Amino acid sequence: MNFQFGVDYYPEHWPEDRWETDARLMAEMGLKVVRLAEFAWNKLEPAQGRFDFAWLDRAIGTLAARGLKAVLGTPSASPPAWLIAAHPEILPVDSEGRTRGFGGRHHDCQSNPTYRSHVARIVTALADHYGRDTRVVGWQTDNELGNSHDDLCHCRHCKKSFQDWLEKRHGDIGTLNRNWGTVFWSQTYDSFSQVPTPMLTLTAHSPSLLLDWKRFHSDLIVNFQQVQIDLLRARTHGQFITHNFMGFHDLIDYYNLAAPLDFVSHDQYPVGFWENPPYRSPAVLASALDLMASLKEKAFWIMEQQAGPTGWQILARTPRPGQLVLWAAQSIAHGADTVVFFRWRSCTVGTEQFWHGILPHNGVPGRRYDELKGFVGAMAPLMPRFEGALSGAEVAVVHSYEQNWAFEIQPHHPELDYVKSAQDVHAAFHDRNIPAAFVSDRADLSAYKLVVAPLVFLDLPGVSERLKAFVNAGGHLVLTARTGVKSQSNVCLTENALPGPYGELLGIDILDYDCLRGVTVPVAVGGETGQGRFWWDVVTLRGAKALAAGGTGDHEGEPAATSHQFGRGQATYWATLPDEVLMGALIDRAVADARVSSLGASDAGVELVRRRAAEGDFLFALNHSAETRTHVPGPGWRAVAGGATLPPYGYNVFFRPKEVSGVIE
Ligand code: GAL
Ligand code: ZN
Repeated sequence: MNFQFGVDYYPEHWPEDRWETDARLMAEMGLKVVRLAEFAWNKLEPAQGRFDFAWLDRAIGTLAARGLKAVLGTPSASPPAWLIAAHPEILPVDSEGRTRGFGGRHHDCQSNPTYRSHVARIVTALADHYGRDTRVVGWQTDNELGNSHDDLCHCRHCKKSFQDWLEKRHGDIGTLNRNWGTVFWSQTYDSFSQVPTPMLTLTAHSPSLLLDWKRFHSDLIVNFQQVQIDLLRARTHGQFITHNFMGFHDLIDYYNLAAPLDFVSHDQYPVGFWENPPYRSPAVLASALDLMASLKEKAFWIMEQQAGPTGWQILARTPRPGQLVLWAAQSIAHGADTVVFFRWRSCTVGTEQFWHGILPHNGVPGRRYDELKGFVGAMAPLMPRFEGALSGAEVAVVHSYEQNWAFEIQPHHPELDYVKSAQDVHAAFHDRNIPAAFVSDRADLSAYKLVVAPLVFLDLPGVSERLKAFVNAGGHLVLTARTGVKSQSNVCLTENALPGPYGELLGIDILDYDCLRGVTVPVAVGGETGQGRFWWDVVTLRGAKALAAGGTGDHEGEPAATSHQFGRGQATYWATLPDEVLMGALIDRAVADARVSSLGASDAGVELVRRRAAEGDFLFALNHSAETRTHVPGPGWRAVAGGATLPPYGYNVFFRPKEVSGVIE
């Protein structure tokens, strides 16, 4: 169920006599769907049990009269003041034991039974009212689950839920003590009721406790959503359920959060005011989109696509003419079937007064409206042709929330970051116009020729077996430093030398290592010299051959990368974390060995992206630079949007039918 383009709209922020003008302008722009009500709890239930859906009925009616369908958000992210006043225990408690106050949003503890019962009431009432309304096409659960909940919550309900969760996972307290190694520093527990949540202590908590806390927190939020999904599924008919994800946000295992949804949605803000400088590279933007495609291995929606300058207390720069369109085109190129712009009109009140919408504060359509309208007109007719299609990537980068959590707990080197490492690998493919998917470590890898699995630190159930089977069947696998180090309980493995369960596959032993604090190791490969960073494994070859070695310095002559034939495939090891130059050279090598193909060469700043549809391939060229560029893909392709010349921030789309591309599905 796709609508190509839509907008996030807050009719409750505006006088009702304006709604008709808004609906008309939306329809004239070519929009088809509107997300509503995800923060409107108090307007929908102004006092406990007194529901008022009449205003929302009228708003939905006004939109429907212009052909616009509605997606409703469940309003659990903004519990009203009357609810908190009656039940202040709903407020979350932080790791210093402080209760966070009412105000802003998400001021709630997600395990609190009172809060949960009120969420269930409002979701049930909404679903009963709108579950068979054909003007409502779907639902968004909550809003950006995990947002604002970073070190929350440590209230007594969360503590009890954590302890119950631990009992389920470990069985009995003796097993937890063994799994965590609580003998260290006299932390042995007699019962689950003694196990703390990781509140502020004098010194660091056990890494095993911290990892289970992160797992618990993720499961808690997944369960919080599931309760809503169950209520909605039981009461709705022919309406989808989705949620708006936040790219590489790290609090929740997004693969689990995505599993019960019909499809995932994502909020894409290329220039967020909170970042300094507030720009993300095209590769980083692409990585978030490719992660979204990986969550269900399925096309997705953008539920919030940047539509103007972003700002709360401070602002980011105004997107240049063309940039909003370019970023929306990038979302579509990477697998969005519907793009919903955030927001319709810049709000005059509240925290987000300077988070600009398509319309300025005065509501008069201007540059942003005109640019986006032009884009919708050009792109909407094309989109059904590649609906559902993804890139057809031959390459995948493994991404695991549990591995990320382990590195958040123990980054080793102050600059080592799991997500950044995965994004760096993805960026190396991106820079070469090679479509690269992200993939869960629980996924089937057989569709890929080349898989890079950075930092497989924890030995999680089934993962080494899956990776070995992939190589055995002819795949090319790249593993990196800090692989095969710990058990799933976050304690060091002892059965083998490092890299633990991967030694045989890789044909190496690691008997010594060096955290590269304040130094890098030069490595020459493929005619270039890059640097190994953060970590260096001292590799002993046990059947593998060295692909490159450390240059002058403490690690001179030691293998920097190795390669080993295993079964019908090849297993490569990077003994360090490569900088961009070294990564590029090593990726070039892996791409050649695995016979992976690129979408072709492009001018500087021009990103090439493919959607491989049943009728053929759609190739997007996206000019992220402020200069005019050109891109023509060569024989067999014909332009379906734009032309060879790419103005600053311009894009084009070319199509090649299947007979020509020779794709056999
Ligand atoms: C998103 C959120 C929206 C709005 C927007 C601008 O993260 O889902 O509700 O807050 O950011 O800040
Ligand atoms: Zn709590």
